[in-house]
Amino acid sequence: MSAAARPLIVANWKMNGLSSSLTQIAHLLHGLRRTRGSADIVVCPPATLLSLMACALESSPVALGGQDCHAEESGAFTGEVAAEMLSDAGARYVIVGHSERRIRRAETDAVIAAKADAAVRAGLTPIVCIGESLDVRDRGRTLDVLTAQVLASCPPCLADKRFVVAYEPCWAIGANRTPTAEQIAEAHAAIHGALARRFGSGGRAVPVLYGGSVKGENAAGIFGIAKVAGVLVGRASLDAREFLRIVEAAAPVDPRLKAQPA
Ligand code: PGA
Repeated sequence: MSAAARPLIVANWKMNGLSSSLTQIAHLLHGLRRTRGSADIVVCPPATLLSLMACALESSPVALGGQDCHAEESGAFTGEVAAEMLSDAGARYVIVGHSERRIRRAETDAVIAAKADAAVRAGLTPIVCIGESLDVRDRGRTLDVLTAQVLASCPPCLADKRFVVAYEPCWAIGANRTPTAEQIAEAHAAIHGALARRFGSGGRAVPVLYGGSVKGENAAGIFGIAKVAGVLVGRASLDAREFLRIVEAAAPVDPRLKAQPA
């Protein structure tokens, strides 16, 4: 991570959380008062909590995000959520192409590219997820697969738009294991190479996050890896105290504030 960069920390609550879980947001906002506020934070709750959370986050430094959107603007798509609906509910970001959707919902790169396009048309910042399976890594094809995923999931229309890529190896998600720092650095370098191929030199400025079993204990090491612009956090984002440990690893607590009670 370059010294000047503001890290981006994204909480992906997945299919977790009821209205009672908003107490975690209250704890998070309280805890954030102790940090220097030098990280950008996004919380992506399930769709049922978007409006409640938008109220809870109002006039706070934390942004709201959706976990997925449909590629169409509206229509007969029972159970789906359009990008404009997320924006209308107060979201500024949306995750697209999470591996849980790529694998379980058979979402292809083309579908994900269409969702990213829909997101920017609705004024949202898409967080495009990519990542290799364990089989791909074992066959030594990780960098080829990541390059192909970037080229196929990030459509040319993103060229002059703000978007984010999240590198999440499938085998590290919810698995209590992470790649080595060298593996993460190598993957991020390949991803930036592919982004530059698609978007020219501007591609090298696209923030690329790491995701997969990030927690308080390993966050500092991950933030220290070159070109890692932030993290996408699943399980550890459900508990405000653990999530704050990750935030503090990116933005050390101001010692003058540390004396204040949490
Ligand atoms: P995890 O999930 O932090 O629980 O591994 C990350 C993700 O799937 O985005």
